[in-house]
Amino acid sequence: MTILPVAELHLHLEGTLEPETIFSLAERNKIALPYADVDELRAKFDFADLQSFLDLYYANMSTLQTAADFAEMTDAYLARAARAGVRHAEVFVDPQAHLLRGIALEEVMEGITSALDASVAVHGVSTGLIVSMLRDQSAESAMDVLDDVIALGIPILGIGLDSAEVGHPPSKFVDVYAKARAEGLHLVAHAGEEGPPEYIWEALDLLGVERIDHGIRCLEDERLVDRLVTERVPLTVCPLSNVSLKAVYHLSNHPLAAMLHKGLNVSVNSDDPSYFGGYVDDNLTGVRDALDLGAGDLVALARNSVTASFAEDGRKTEILAEIAVAARSL
Ligand code: ADE
Ligand code: ZN
Repeated sequence: MTILPVAELHLHLEGTLEPETIFSLAERNKIALPYADVDELRAKFDFADLQSFLDLYYANMSTLQTAADFAEMTDAYLARAARAGVRHAEVFVDPQAHLLRGIALEEVMEGITSALDASVAVHGVSTGLIVSMLRDQSAESAMDVLDDVIALGIPILGIGLDSAEVGHPPSKFVDVYAKARAEGLHLVAHAGEEGPPEYIWEALDLLGVERIDHGIRCLEDERLVDRLVTERVPLTVCPLSNVSLKAVYHLSNHPLAAMLHKGLNVSVNSDDPSYFGGYVDDNLTGVRDALDLGAGDLVALARNSVTASFAEDGRKTEILAEIAVAARSL
Protein backbone atom coordinates (compact mmCIF):
# COMPACT_ATOMS: atom_id res chain seq x y z
CA MET A 1 0.00 0.00 0.00
CA THR A 2 1.05 3.60 -0.47
CA ILE A 3 2.44 5.06 2.71
CA LEU A 4 1.46 8.69 3.17
CA PRO A 5 4.05 11.04 4.66
CA VAL A 6 2.93 12.09 8.15
CA ALA A 7 4.01 13.85 11.31
CA GLU A 8 3.96 11.81 14.52
CA LEU A 9 2.87 13.99 17.44
CA HIS A 10 2.15 11.49 20.22
CA LEU A 11 5.00 9.11 20.89
CA HIS A 12 6.66 8.17 24.19
CA LEU A 13 10.30 7.31 23.48
CA GLU A 14 10.38 4.88 26.41
CA GLY A 15 7.39 3.13 24.84
CA THR A 16 9.50 2.27 21.77
CA LEU A 17 11.78 -0.13 23.67
CA GLU A 18 11.27 -3.42 21.87
CA PRO A 19 11.63 -6.61 23.97
CA GLU A 20 14.86 -7.51 22.13
CA THR A 21 16.31 -4.08 22.99
CA ILE A 22 15.21 -4.42 26.63
CA PHE A 23 17.14 -7.69 26.83
CA SER A 24 20.26 -6.35 25.10
CA LEU A 25 20.32 -3.22 27.31
CA ALA A 26 19.82 -5.39 30.41
CA GLU A 27 22.77 -7.54 29.44
CA ARG A 28 24.99 -4.56 28.67
CA ASN A 29 24.09 -2.82 31.94
CA LYS A 30 24.00 -5.96 34.12
CA ILE A 31 20.33 -5.45 35.05
CA ALA A 32 18.41 -8.54 36.18
CA LEU A 33 15.05 -8.81 34.41
CA PRO A 34 12.10 -10.71 35.94
CA TYR A 35 11.44 -12.50 32.59
CA ALA A 36 13.36 -15.45 31.18
CA ASP A 37 13.20 -14.31 27.54
CA VAL A 38 11.49 -11.99 25.05
CA ASP A 39 8.54 -14.33 24.68
CA GLU A 40 7.83 -14.23 28.41
CA LEU A 41 8.03 -10.43 28.31
CA ARG A 42 5.80 -10.21 25.21
CA ALA A 43 3.24 -12.42 26.95
CA LYS A 44 2.81 -9.60 29.49
CA PHE A 45 1.63 -7.19 26.77
CA ASP A 46 -1.96 -8.02 27.64
CA PHE A 47 -3.19 -5.03 29.59
CA ALA A 48 -6.34 -4.49 31.64
CA ASP A 49 -6.08 -0.69 31.64
CA LEU A 50 -3.63 2.23 31.59
CA GLN A 51 -2.17 1.49 35.05
CA SER A 52 -1.36 -2.14 34.24
CA PHE A 53 0.57 -0.94 31.19
CA LEU A 54 2.34 1.84 33.13
CA ASP A 55 3.60 -0.67 35.72
CA LEU A 56 5.44 -2.64 32.99
CA TYR A 57 6.51 0.49 31.07
CA TYR A 58 8.20 2.01 34.16
CA ALA A 59 9.74 -1.32 35.23
CA ASN A 60 11.44 -1.82 31.85
CA MET A 61 13.01 1.64 32.01
CA SER A 62 15.47 0.17 34.55
CA THR A 63 17.49 -1.04 31.54
CA LEU A 64 18.20 2.54 30.40
CA GLN A 65 21.32 3.75 32.22
CA THR A 66 23.60 5.87 30.06
CA ALA A 67 23.31 8.63 27.48
CA ALA A 68 24.33 6.03 24.86
CA ASP A 69 21.32 3.87 25.85
CA PHE A 70 18.92 6.80 25.44
CA ALA A 71 20.54 7.69 22.10
CA GLU A 72 20.23 4.10 20.84
CA MET A 73 16.54 3.91 21.81
CA THR A 74 15.82 7.22 20.08
CA ASP A 75 17.71 6.35 16.91
CA ALA A 76 15.97 2.95 16.65
CA TYR A 77 12.58 4.68 16.87
CA LEU A 78 13.53 7.24 14.21
CA ALA A 79 14.73 4.51 11.82
CA ARG A 80 11.47 2.58 12.23
CA ALA A 81 9.35 5.74 12.07
CA ALA A 82 11.01 6.78 8.79
CA ARG A 83 9.98 3.43 7.29
CA ALA A 84 6.42 4.11 8.53
CA GLY A 85 6.28 7.37 6.54
CA VAL A 86 7.05 9.71 9.44
CA ARG A 87 8.71 12.88 8.13
CA HIS A 88 8.49 14.95 11.34
CA ALA A 89 8.31 13.61 14.92
CA GLU A 90 7.54 15.43 18.17
CA VAL A 91 8.46 12.92 20.85
CA PHE A 92 7.87 12.70 24.61
CA VAL A 93 10.35 11.82 27.32
CA ASP A 94 9.45 11.23 31.00
CA PRO A 95 12.48 12.65 32.90
CA GLN A 96 10.94 12.07 36.35
CA ALA A 97 10.75 8.33 35.70
CA HIS A 98 14.54 8.32 35.26
CA LEU A 99 15.42 10.85 37.98
CA LEU A 100 13.42 8.82 40.52
CA ARG A 101 15.67 5.81 39.89
CA GLY A 102 18.89 7.81 40.14
CA ILE A 103 19.70 8.58 36.49
CA ALA A 104 21.04 12.11 35.94
CA LEU A 105 18.95 14.47 33.81
CA GLU A 106 22.04 15.12 31.62
CA GLU A 107 22.30 11.44 30.64
CA VAL A 108 18.67 11.38 29.57
CA MET A 109 18.55 14.68 27.73
CA GLU A 110 21.98 14.55 26.09
CA GLY A 111 21.49 11.00 24.85
CA ILE A 112 18.09 11.68 23.33
CA THR A 113 19.10 15.04 21.89
CA SER A 114 22.19 13.61 20.18
CA ALA A 115 20.00 11.19 18.23
CA LEU A 116 17.33 13.81 17.49
CA ASP A 117 19.94 16.28 16.25
CA ALA A 118 21.31 13.75 13.73
CA SER A 119 17.84 12.70 12.58
CA VAL A 120 17.34 14.93 9.53
CA ALA A 121 20.69 13.86 8.07
CA VAL A 122 20.39 10.18 9.01
CA HIS A 123 16.66 9.47 8.63
CA GLY A 124 15.17 12.51 6.85
CA VAL A 125 12.93 13.05 9.90
CA SER A 126 12.78 16.51 11.51
CA THR A 127 12.19 16.38 15.25
CA GLY A 128 11.30 18.13 18.48
CA LEU A 129 11.43 16.98 22.11
CA ILE A 130 8.53 17.42 24.56
CA VAL A 131 9.30 16.98 28.25
CA SER A 132 6.33 15.23 29.77
CA MET A 133 5.43 15.62 33.45
CA LEU A 134 4.14 12.62 35.41
CA ARG A 135 0.70 13.71 36.64
CA ASP A 136 0.74 11.12 39.45
CA GLN A 137 3.80 12.90 40.92
CA SER A 138 3.52 16.25 42.71
CA ALA A 139 3.27 19.63 40.99
CA GLU A 140 6.44 20.64 42.90
CA SER A 141 8.32 17.74 41.30
CA ALA A 142 7.12 18.82 37.83
CA MET A 143 8.20 22.41 38.53
CA ASP A 144 11.65 21.20 39.65
CA VAL A 145 12.06 19.21 36.42
CA LEU A 146 11.01 22.19 34.34
CA ASP A 147 13.51 24.43 36.16
CA ASP A 148 16.29 21.84 35.78
CA VAL A 149 15.60 21.29 32.08
CA ILE A 150 15.68 25.04 31.46
CA ALA A 151 18.91 25.37 33.48
CA LEU A 152 20.50 22.55 31.46
CA GLY A 153 20.16 24.69 28.35
CA ILE A 154 19.29 21.86 25.94
CA PRO A 155 16.49 23.28 23.78
CA ILE A 156 13.10 21.58 24.00
CA LEU A 157 9.92 22.14 22.04
CA GLY A 158 7.46 22.08 24.90
CA ILE A 159 5.97 20.30 27.86
CA GLY A 160 3.32 17.60 28.18
CA LEU A 161 1.42 15.73 30.90
CA ASP A 162 1.12 11.94 31.07
CA SER A 163 0.94 8.86 33.33
CA ALA A 164 -2.07 7.77 35.44
CA GLU A 165 -4.85 10.18 34.49
CA VAL A 166 -7.85 9.58 36.75
CA GLY A 167 -7.49 11.48 40.03
CA HIS A 168 -4.77 13.75 38.64
CA PRO A 169 -6.60 16.56 36.81
CA PRO A 170 -4.82 19.19 34.75
CA SER A 171 -5.74 21.82 37.39
CA LYS A 172 -2.95 20.37 39.57
CA PHE A 173 -0.35 21.76 37.14
CA VAL A 174 -1.54 25.32 36.49
CA ASP A 175 1.66 26.92 37.83
CA VAL A 176 3.94 24.56 35.87
CA TYR A 177 2.17 25.37 32.59
CA ALA A 178 2.19 29.11 33.36
CA LYS A 179 5.95 28.96 33.85
CA ALA A 180 6.46 26.92 30.65
CA ARG A 181 4.32 29.41 28.71
CA ALA A 182 6.41 32.30 30.08
CA GLU A 183 9.50 30.44 28.82
CA GLY A 184 8.02 30.38 25.31
CA LEU A 185 7.46 26.61 25.28
CA HIS A 186 4.66 24.82 23.47
CA LEU A 187 2.01 23.22 25.68
CA VAL A 188 0.24 19.88 25.26
CA ALA A 189 -1.39 17.44 27.71
CA HIS A 190 -2.91 13.96 27.76
CA ALA A 191 -6.60 14.36 28.58
CA GLY A 192 -9.72 12.30 27.98
CA GLU A 193 -7.87 8.99 27.52
CA GLU A 194 -9.32 7.36 30.67
CA GLY A 195 -10.22 10.64 32.35
CA PRO A 196 -13.53 12.49 31.87
CA PRO A 197 -14.33 15.33 29.41
CA GLU A 198 -13.88 17.81 32.31
CA TYR A 199 -10.13 17.13 32.15
CA ILE A 200 -10.13 18.27 28.50
CA TRP A 201 -11.91 21.49 29.48
CA GLU A 202 -9.34 22.02 32.24
CA ALA A 203 -6.40 21.36 29.92
CA LEU A 204 -7.76 23.99 27.50
CA ASP A 205 -8.97 26.59 29.98
CA LEU A 206 -6.54 26.25 32.90
CA LEU A 207 -3.36 25.05 31.20
CA GLY A 208 -3.86 26.75 27.83
CA VAL A 209 -2.71 23.71 25.85
CA GLU A 210 -2.38 23.87 22.06
CA ARG A 211 -3.10 20.16 21.52
CA ILE A 212 -4.89 17.43 23.44
CA ASP A 213 -3.25 14.00 23.52
CA HIS A 214 -5.91 11.29 23.08
CA GLY A 215 -9.09 13.28 23.81
CA ILE A 216 -11.38 10.45 22.72
CA ARG A 217 -13.75 10.98 25.66
CA CYS A 218 -14.65 14.43 24.28
CA LEU A 219 -17.45 12.64 22.44
CA GLU A 220 -19.36 12.37 25.74
CA ASP A 221 -19.80 16.17 25.82
CA GLU A 222 -21.48 17.82 22.83
CA ARG A 223 -20.57 21.33 23.94
CA LEU A 224 -16.93 20.30 24.19
CA VAL A 225 -17.00 18.77 20.71
CA ASP A 226 -18.45 22.04 19.36
CA ARG A 227 -15.65 23.99 20.98
CA LEU A 228 -12.91 21.64 19.74
CA VAL A 229 -14.33 21.79 16.20
CA THR A 230 -14.75 25.58 16.21
CA GLU A 231 -11.25 26.20 17.55
CA ARG A 232 -9.72 23.37 15.45
CA VAL A 233 -7.96 22.03 18.53
CA PRO A 234 -5.76 19.11 17.45
CA LEU A 235 -6.41 15.73 19.09
CA THR A 236 -3.55 13.23 18.78
CA VAL A 237 -5.45 9.94 18.67
CA CYS A 238 -3.74 6.56 19.21
CA PRO A 239 -6.06 3.77 18.02
CA LEU A 240 -3.98 0.64 18.81
CA SER A 241 -3.19 2.08 22.25
CA ASN A 242 -6.88 2.62 23.01
CA VAL A 243 -7.69 -0.98 22.12
CA SER A 244 -4.69 -2.37 24.00
CA LEU A 245 -5.57 -0.41 27.18
CA LYS A 246 -9.28 -1.27 26.87
CA ALA A 247 -10.50 2.30 26.42
CA VAL A 248 -12.07 0.94 23.19
CA TYR A 249 -13.24 -2.67 22.83
CA HIS A 250 -12.04 -3.31 19.26
CA LEU A 251 -10.57 -1.24 16.41
CA SER A 252 -13.88 -1.57 14.59
CA ASN A 253 -15.52 0.29 17.52
CA HIS A 254 -12.91 3.04 17.54
CA PRO A 255 -14.44 6.55 17.49
CA LEU A 256 -11.81 7.90 15.05
CA ALA A 257 -14.13 7.82 12.02
CA ALA A 258 -16.91 9.51 14.00
CA MET A 259 -14.44 12.13 15.22
CA LEU A 260 -13.22 12.84 11.67
CA HIS A 261 -16.74 13.12 10.33
CA LYS A 262 -17.77 15.51 13.13
CA GLY A 263 -15.00 17.82 11.88
CA LEU A 264 -12.60 17.25 14.78
CA ASN A 265 -8.94 17.91 14.02
CA VAL A 266 -7.65 14.37 14.58
CA SER A 267 -4.38 12.71 13.65
CA VAL A 268 -3.21 9.10 14.09
CA ASN A 269 -0.23 8.29 16.30
CA SER A 270 1.39 5.27 17.93
CA ASP A 271 1.81 6.29 21.63
CA ASP A 272 3.93 3.33 22.86
CA PRO A 273 4.37 1.26 19.71
CA SER A 274 6.43 -1.60 21.08
CA TYR A 275 3.76 -2.36 23.71
CA PHE A 276 0.59 -1.73 21.67
CA GLY A 277 1.22 -3.71 18.51
CA GLY A 278 2.54 -1.22 16.03
CA TYR A 279 3.95 2.00 14.69
CA VAL A 280 2.13 4.77 12.83
CA ASP A 281 1.82 2.71 9.62
CA ASP A 282 0.27 -0.16 11.59
CA ASN A 283 -2.17 2.25 13.26
CA LEU A 284 -3.15 3.79 9.92
CA THR A 285 -3.66 0.51 8.09
CA GLY A 286 -5.51 -0.83 11.16
CA VAL A 287 -8.08 1.98 11.22
CA ARG A 288 -8.32 2.10 7.43
CA ASP A 289 -9.37 -1.55 7.33
CA ALA A 290 -11.42 -1.68 10.55
CA LEU A 291 -13.30 1.57 9.93
CA ASP A 292 -13.40 1.42 6.15
CA LEU A 293 -11.70 4.80 5.77
CA GLY A 294 -11.46 6.19 2.25
CA ALA A 295 -8.57 7.94 0.51
CA GLY A 296 -10.00 11.34 1.47
CA ASP A 297 -10.03 10.39 5.16
CA LEU A 298 -6.44 9.12 5.04
CA VAL A 299 -5.24 12.30 3.35
CA ALA A 300 -7.12 14.41 5.91
CA LEU A 301 -5.46 12.50 8.77
CA ALA A 302 -2.02 12.96 7.21
CA ARG A 303 -2.59 16.67 6.55
CA ASN A 304 -3.95 17.20 10.09
CA SER A 305 -0.82 15.63 11.57
CA VAL A 306 1.35 18.13 9.74
CA THR A 307 -0.74 21.26 10.32
CA ALA A 308 -1.09 20.36 14.04
CA SER A 309 2.68 20.02 14.43
CA PHE A 310 4.99 22.69 15.78
CA ALA A 311 7.30 22.36 12.75
CA GLU A 312 8.45 25.51 10.98
CA ASP A 313 6.10 26.70 8.24
CA GLY A 314 8.58 25.81 5.48
CA ARG A 315 8.88 22.25 6.75
CA LYS A 316 5.09 21.92 6.96
CA THR A 317 4.78 23.12 3.36
CA GLU A 318 7.36 20.53 2.21
CA ILE A 319 5.59 17.61 3.89
CA LEU A 320 2.13 18.76 2.72
CA ALA A 321 3.49 18.80 -0.85
CA GLU A 322 4.82 15.25 -0.38
CA ILE A 323 1.39 14.18 0.87
CA ALA A 324 -0.26 15.66 -2.24
CA VAL A 325 2.10 13.68 -4.50
CA ALA A 326 1.66 10.40 -2.56
CA ALA A 327 -2.13 10.85 -2.46
CA ARG A 328 -2.29 10.49 -6.28
CA SER A 329 -1.39 6.81 -5.96
CA LEU A 330 -3.73 5.97 -3.08
N1 ADE B 1 2.81 7.23 29.32
C1 ADE B 1 3.16 6.45 28.30
N2 ADE B 1 2.07 6.11 27.59
C2 ADE B 1 1.01 6.72 28.16
C3 ADE B 1 -0.39 6.77 27.89
N3 ADE B 1 -0.94 6.13 26.86
N4 ADE B 1 -1.16 7.48 28.72
C4 ADE B 1 -0.64 8.12 29.76
N5 ADE B 1 0.65 8.10 30.07
C5 ADE B 1 1.48 7.41 29.28
ZN1 ZN C 1 0.54 8.90 25.40
